[in-house]
Amino acid sequence: MNYNNKSEILKRANFLLKDAVKNRESLFHTPIISTFADQNISSRVMVLRDHNASQRTIRFHSDFRSDKVQELIDNPKTSIIGYDPALKTQIRLIGRSTINHLNKKSLKAWNESQAISKKCYSVKDGSSQKAKKPEIYDFHIKDIKLEDGYANFCTIEVAYHTLEFLYLQRQGHRRCKFVWGAKGKLSSTWLVP
Ligand SMILES: Cc1cc2nc3c(=O)[nH]c(=O)nc-3n(C[C@H](O)[C@H](O)[C@H](O)COP(=O)(O)O)c2cc1C
Repeated sequence: MNYNNKSEILKRANFLLKDAVKNRESLFHTPIISTFADQNISSRVMVLRDHNASQRTIRFHSDFRSDKVQELIDNPKTSIIGYDPALKTQIRLIGRSTINHLNKKSLKAWNESQAISKKCYSVKDGSSQKAKKPEIYDFHIKDIKLEDGYANFCTIEVAYHTLEFLYLQRQGHRRCKFVWGAKGKLSSTWLVP
């Protein structure tokens, strides 16, 4: 891997994001997603479910009733960051999110989900609601009709226009920013780390 070559760096970023979808050892499997909550910033960890390099999209799954979904409906601007110390690599993405709820895309993702993931969406009242006692919301898989959770399930599809890559190395770090314009034209630049 030549970290002085921008196109190799972009290939590496795409590889790491694709790999992270299935590879639970990769810390890019669980990046941090930030949204605007009115004038404040709100961040949380989420599981990366898909990466499409040619369309420049990544996908997350969530509860439609959660705060983050409402925040993204109000303001789709989204920032994502991951750092894997084993790879000495940080990746930052900036983009806009679309929520898929009760549509073809959400149905496809739901049908591809495992039962263990589906069960979260049957929880009554939904993510981010205030709870008097936390135990009330514990899972009892035998009492849950898994498919009922679909009504609460959504996907968050982030179309990113900026990808920034930082690689840490002793002789000098490498930081490179890729920006796609409105028509998809790519420009890239080195940044002082
Ligand atoms: C390792 C890990 C993975 C998580 N994955 C998801 C996820 O894929 N989707 C999700 O909605 N929340 C996920 N969460 C929970 C969120 O971080 C967050 O606590 C929750 O979704 C409520 O966020 P909100 O109030 O901003 O909506 C995960 C948390 C951890 C620690």
